[in-house]
Amino acid sequence: MSAKRDLISIEDFSNEEIEEIFSIADEMDEIIKNKGRSDLCYGKIMATLFFEPSTRTRFSFETAIQRLGGGLISAPDMSVTSTKKGETLSDTIRTVSQYADIIVMRHPHDGAAKVASKSASVPVINAGDGKHEHPTQTLLDLYTLKKEKGRIKDLTVALCGDLEYGRTIHSLAYGLARFGANIIFIPAKGHQIPFYVSNRLANVYQMKLRRNVLPPDLKLIRDKIDVIYMTPSRGQQDFGFVVKEFNIYVKELFLKDNLKKWNQYDSVYITRIQKERFAQSEESDETVTPRENYPVISGKLLKYKKYRDTTIMHPFPRVDELSREVDGDKRAIYFKQAAYGVPVRMALIAYLLGLKKTGLKSRKLDREEVPSDKEIAYISCENENCISYLEREILPREFRYPKREKITGFHALIYTCAYCDIEVLATYAGSSKSKKYVKVHPALDDKIKEWRDNRYLVVFKSEKAAGEKGFEPYKPEVGKPVLDQEKIRAGLLNVVDQIEKAEDLDDLVLIGIEQEGKVIAERLAVLIRKRNGVKIPVAGIDTNPYRDDRSIVNDENSQARIPFSIDKKTIILVDDVISTGRTARAALDVIFDSKAGRPKGVKLAVIINVANFRELPLNPDMFIEKVDLRGGRIIKVRLKEIEGVDEAIEYSAARALV
Ligand code: CP
Repeated sequence: MSAKRDLISIEDFSNEEIEEIFSIADEMDEIIKNKGRSDLCYGKIMATLFFEPSTRTRFSFETAIQRLGGGLISAPDMSVTSTKKGETLSDTIRTVSQYADIIVMRHPHDGAAKVASKSASVPVINAGDGKHEHPTQTLLDLYTLKKEKGRIKDLTVALCGDLEYGRTIHSLAYGLARFGANIIFIPAKGHQIPFYVSNRLANVYQMKLRRNVLPPDLKLIRDKIDVIYMTPSRGQQDFGFVVKEFNIYVKELFLKDNLKKWNQYDSVYITRIQKERFAQSEESDETVTPRENYPVISGKLLKYKKYRDTTIMHPFPRVDELSREVDGDKRAIYFKQAAYGVPVRMALIAYLLGLKKTGLKSRKLDREEVPSDKEIAYISCENENCISYLEREILPREFRYPKREKITGFHALIYTCAYCDIEVLATYAGSSKSKKYVKVHPALDDKIKEWRDNRYLVVFKSEKAAGEKGFEPYKPEVGKPVLDQEKIRAGLLNVVDQIEKAEDLDDLVLIGIEQEGKVIAERLAVLIRKRNGVKIPVAGIDTNPYRDDRSIVNDENSQARIPFSIDKKTIILVDDVISTGRTARAALDVIFDSKAGRPKGVKLAVIINVANFRELPLNPDMFIEKVDLRGGRIIKVRLKEIEGVDEAIEYSAARALV
């Protein structure tokens, strides 16, 4: 017997399966129109357990099973069940799966559907779990787009409203990404798409994301909204600009008439504010989502030519974000969208009960592995609405394997909770064998893998947490200094000699990469002033938002700024170490994105040139010392202004660490 299938996340189905469900839905639509019902589910019973109110989802599921000739047991309000007496979700589901052949459940807590799927011996369908996902809504939303627009690939869909708590939005964003649509996020002020969702879109679906781009026309929807634009990266766009150009020029793109298509929405999907999911503190805060900051679709908006072919969708219920005057417009397809819920849910029930054999090989999408519980023993989900947080005494913690990423200046292992998908950052990793821990660092990737393979790996959020569990910090063996104070001083003078020889000091600016690079740039400026009496402008730049190993290409607070003109100037870009070259690449993006002018040229000066780690064709024009680093060794430049001493030291990050 094949394993039971559930639909907990839209990611539980492959694209081929979704297409298959759509073609079964077409058949179901014919059945509805012609005979009204079939006997496909004769003898099968569906249970609908709704821990939260519903009109469309529950009624369309209940209509679906009855049109399929099946029976129904329904709890539209779980407060009349033994839940009220304190029965656990797991016990309830285990019991109901003795009575029913398939269970449909809606629950207020993120991840509750996963608990149900683990407890049930029959297929479970997630009809919405907290703010997490609403995958059957996505099936019918994608089906609607396909029916009304003829395709999903290449469509441009604006997702508007409460993107933070809107579970329909989260599932739909994954679905659109997978089928190759462009997405514009238009959140109500303060209700942006959560990072774990945009990170997943960027990391798993390689979507390219740009924050804070506001095309002027969108001001018609509402002022003061943020816009996030995501595009598939695999070249579905009709015009194929590369990512780097996209990063730099997207703002102008919105303004150019000849790229109207980019600015044309095939569909606008608007959602209500999900007040019931606000934390208590938010609810009492009058400044949260005042009406004037909420996107609204009105008849006036739809008069604009650019919306001529834009379908308006809404999962419903609506509050006041969608004007009733739009209801009679042929572009308003939200009641049709709700109607598609029946054939799509009929198709889904038949598919999960194995009553429609498809012969599809590709079943589930490959998701990241869930590591052993031991590995994540010292982190837990911090989402207060996650079922694994609320029932932490009885539910095992589960996280998907992490990705190491640099986040505003520090490295961390990013785990995702297997219940609610929200990310937990572990900044420290250790070995349960030696009971030692270290700060996560790229040079430790191999060591962390070794610990994981040997099942020694434990991770922590903080040093305090590691200490509380009886772990001690690993003290790396410090090697001989590569450069001492005198060599750094002499080296910087030599760099100044080279600059004086090659450059016109009146056209020179120094830009240091924060934090060490800025300090070195300031020292170079002081030396030049002492020797030549010329005051060279110095700026510091933060390259973190522009790194290519970050999911978010740029965010709203990170607009590159250089406080003086660099037009026709020679820039000496300064850093302590060049290794892969990726920081220098990001720095070039910062410089060009700053709009401070078009420099005559950019040169790079560093203290240490790590020659054997380079990943990009960028080499320093000036450096003090060139080194090769092998065997997990790290080099660190310490500066008096920051650490009280001038030196470059090379050390082994974790060679002796087991
Ligand atoms: N779209 C949707 O989930 O509607 P209900 O809350 O009425 O089920």
